Amino acid sequence: MLSIIASVAALHLSKAAADISVQGSDHVNVFQGTRGGGNRFPGVVAAPFAMVKLGPDVESGRTDAYSGYLPTGNIWGFSMMHESGTGGAPKYGVVSQMPVLGNITNPGANFSQPRASPDEGRVGYYKSSLANGITVELAATEHAGLYSYSFPNGSSPSVVIDVSHVLPSFRGLGWEQHYSGGSFGIFDDGHYTGSGTYNNGWNLSPDWSIYFCGKFNQRPSRAYTFVSRGNTTVSNKNGTSWVMGNQRLGGVFAFADTNLQSRVGISFLSTAKACANLDSEITPDTSLETLISNAQRRWNTEVLDKVKITTTNSSDLQLLYSSLYGMFLIPSNRSGENPGWTSTEPYYDDIFTFWDTHRCHTSLFQIIQPIAYEEFIRSLIDIWRHDSFMPDARSSNFNGRVQGGSNADNVLADAFVKGVRGAINWADGFAAMQTDAEVVPPNNFDPKAPDSSTKEGRGALPDWLQYGYITPRFTRAVSRAVEYATNDFGLYQVATGLKKPAEAQRYLNRSRNWRNHWNPSATSEGHSGFLVPRAANGSFIPQDPKDCGGCYWGDAYYEDNAWIYSMNAIHDVAELKRRIGGDERFVDRLDKLFDLGIFNAGNEPGFTSPFLYNFVRGMQWKSVERSRYIGSLYGAGESGLPGNSDAGAMESNLLWQMIGLWPMTGQTTFLILAPWFESMTIDLGRNKSLSVISTGGARDTSYYVQSLRVNGQPWDKAWVAWEDIFANGGTLEYVLGDSPVGWSTGELPPSPAS
Ligand SMILES: *[C@@H]1O[C@H](CO)[C@@H](O)[C@H](O)[C@H]1NC(C)=O
Ligand SMILES: *[C@@H]1O[C@H](CO)[C@@H](O)[C@H](O)[C@H]1NC(C)=O
Ligand SMILES: *[C@@H]1O[C@H](CO)[C@@H](O)[C@H](O)[C@H]1NC(C)=O
Ligand SMILES: *[C@@H]1O[C@H](CO)[C@@H](O)[C@H](O)[C@H]1NC(C)=O
Ligand SMILES: *[C@@H]1O[C@H](CO)[C@@H](O)[C@H](O)[C@H]1NC(C)=O
Ligand SMILES: *[C@@H]1O[C@H](CO)[C@@H](O)[C@H](O)[C@H]1NC(C)=O
Ligand SMILES: *[C@@H]1O[C@H](CO)[C@@H](O)[C@H](O)[C@H]1NC(C)=O
Ligand SMILES: *[C@@H]1O[C@H](CO)[C@@H](O)[C@H](O)[C@H]1NC(C)=O
Ligand SMILES: *[C@@H]1O[C@H](CO)[C@@H](O)[C@H](O)[C@H]1NC(C)=O
Ligand SMILES: *[C@@H]1O[C@H](CO)[C@@H](O)[C@H](O)[C@H]1NC(C)=O
Repeated sequence: MLSIIASVAALHLSKAAADISVQGSDHVNVFQGTRGGGNRFPGVVAAPFAMVKLGPDVESGRTDAYSGYLPTGNIWGFSMMHESGTGGAPKYGVVSQMPVLGNITNPGANFSQPRASPDEGRVGYYKSSLANGITVELAATEHAGLYSYSFPNGSSPSVVIDVSHVLPSFRGLGWEQHYSGGSFGIFDDGHYTGSGTYNNGWNLSPDWSIYFCGKFNQRPSRAYTFVSRGNTTVSNKNGTSWVMGNQRLGGVFAFADTNLQSRVGISFLSTAKACANLDSEITPDTSLETLISNAQRRWNTEVLDKVKITTTNSSDLQLLYSSLYGMFLIPSNRSGENPGWTSTEPYYDDIFTFWDTHRCHTSLFQIIQPIAYEEFIRSLIDIWRHDSFMPDARSSNFNGRVQGGSNADNVLADAFVKGVRGAINWADGFAAMQTDAEVVPPNNFDPKAPDSSTKEGRGALPDWLQYGYITPRFTRAVSRAVEYATNDFGLYQVATGLKKPAEAQRYLNRSRNWRNHWNPSATSEGHSGFLVPRAANGSFIPQDPKDCGGCYWGDAYYEDNAWIYSMNAIHDVAELKRRIGGDERFVDRLDKLFDLGIFNAGNEPGFTSPFLYNFVRGMQWKSVERSRYIGSLYGAGESGLPGNSDAGAMESNLLWQMIGLWPMTGQTTFLILAPWFESMTIDLGRNKSLSVISTGGARDTSYYVQSLRVNGQPWDKAWVAWEDIFANGGTLEYVLGDSPVGWSTGELPPSPAS
């Protein structure tokens, strides 16, 4: 065990080393998580949360390309809107164009091209080399994109714009997008404008429209619109023209010079706004290089430079910065671009979904991007003002889908208890949460779960209010019940802070209702007591805790089983521990999650369970072992995510392991793990920072906490609070070693509902 003196000496050394500045964007692998189910978007996102996400759309048999991209297959367009890291079904892939060789006789033909070599990308830049010799380089701004084409010498360059282009889904689940119409007009000077309207996708959205405005750096030698009738494409070759309708339509442009630049602005409001967005962000003389360096600067100053480590190990640097980058690709900041209502509040879309992100993404979002986070919270409340409910998921300006609870409640509670105020109207914020807690959302009759709303709110609220649990007349009854309990705990937190004691008491009570699904006689693998389905007459329905049926929309548990969901009332852990049978049984049950292969690091419902050892004195070291195991599943490479990125949820999970803390969402508590690096500094804004320092550590062999000082004081609790290290900054100094030490003998982490 190293002495405290050694640790203080290391602190000084690390501070000196920290002066060597690291350009975070140099370490980002934009292809992290693009293979093996990560579904990350590798294309150009010019700033955190930029509205434009410009990249290739790839087809490969009947494989869904969730972010447009697939590592193998043909490219069939380069489009301006994508979502990163999601499952369900592909969304967007709209405002596309495709460079084509030769004179176009049939604009409706299949122009897809194999790649001549693998795509290349870095922050702010993307390049594809097509088999026909065309090279495509991309850069962007928040609302516009620049396509730089190089056609083979002596060829006849063309660009085909097909408004009907939208990412398909082959899953057959009814979640595919549809093109439902558009317009396309070419002006005398060669520029064009138009719009496309699309619907459906995973969130079952009605028609929504995107407007565009495009300009080239050369006058086209020929330009015409086309519209297809049946399978025949009719081209209008008379020059300036305008087409609209619900058929496949668009434009064809031919050029003389083989070096062509194409720039396009988009808007949700109008073609005029699309042109204004283009003209204000990319002018005729804006170079690709300028846009790339602007994008890198924004990513560095707004995200990547917020976290500094002193190591020179390039694989660590790549993993850290690729993860930070991947965390901030969505949601999309669409302030000033909301077609739904007029408001001076910020507007964010592409929340996909809080079911994924509320556990550990949003709490890191607050720390790294506090300005955007406050805007984001205001936007959620404004969506409630105008759409009646906050989203659990949202895209194309439409709330949907709800997998479990109304988890925006947890997000607002987490922000509230950590002091996020600014311009947020918290009276409205609490009213929005109360809508979730008290108003049954209208049923949208989702074919996958027709019992109640999957659009927003809490569909199973009637049972929750009547019985204090959810009967099987509602799908996903048990998993929804645990989440409703955590949602109600969120209301308790905010009601307490707003000095509403009656409401606080009501929701604290309700936050305990997860207990009503607890069947003490349900047994599995030597353990008794699990959350099970419960009938209206109060009797428990027999259920093997290891079996969740289909684990899907129509089942009692969604995407995980009773072993996992039984651990998820994280505001009531002391009671949970008591029901499980005390410390030893609790530790054994956590062990079994791993020993029996129940835990899946790629699935969000289990995210917090590995660290609940911190609720038993002296057992913090087991949480560290789990943390190291989870960390070992990640890498900076294409297959570096152990599951869908899920809008950055997966990346944020790893980042917390690196920091060595775990957020208990909705509370100010952070469970203590063990940091990865000798020195990490997180810029908290307002001239404050968190410094995490360790000595004696080695990633795979020496990671057990031997001792800890918080702000210089010896620490024996397996947790810290927001006030300790984040509110005003702070220092965590660890001594790590290669064998477990039962150092965490102090006060247990709070169980506020117990
Ligand atoms: C393409 O079409 C234009 C106009 O019809 C014609 O002048 C040109 O020769 C054609 N080029 C090729 C390669 O066919
Ligand atoms: C387009 O052509 C490519 C290459 O022949 C083929 O792989 C692909 O399936 C075609 N796409 C469509 C939508 O027919
Ligand atoms: C195309 O022509 C340019 C200018 O004549 C020349 O520099 C370039 O090498 C040529 N590219 C190819 C691929 O032949
Ligand atoms: C279009 O072509 C498809 C496949 O070749 C065919 O099944 C369909 O009937 C055609 N539609 C029309 C309107 O001709
Ligand atoms: C061009 O074509 C469009 C539609 O096909 C037609 O409405 C328009 O009158 C034509 N313009 C000229 C100048 O012929
Ligand atoms: C970088 O760190 C990783 C993870 O600890 C380790 O496997 C690798 O050997 C290190 N590389 C170098 C060059 O030290
Ligand atoms: C969000 O977008 C609006 C409009 O473009 C901009 O004013 C605001 O600064 C953006 N927010 C952040 C955090 O960048
Ligand atoms: C809380 O629950 C208890 C027990 O079910 C009940 O007696 C009490 O009235 C409830 N309080 C509120 C404020 O709902
Ligand atoms: C309670 O309801 C369940 C499901 O409807 C039924 O199977 C069970 O027999 C009932 N039990 C009692 C005691 O009525
Ligand atoms: C941060 O520190 C600088 C330099 O000491 C000072 O000028 C600035 O006002 C401080 N900002 C805040 C928000 O305290």
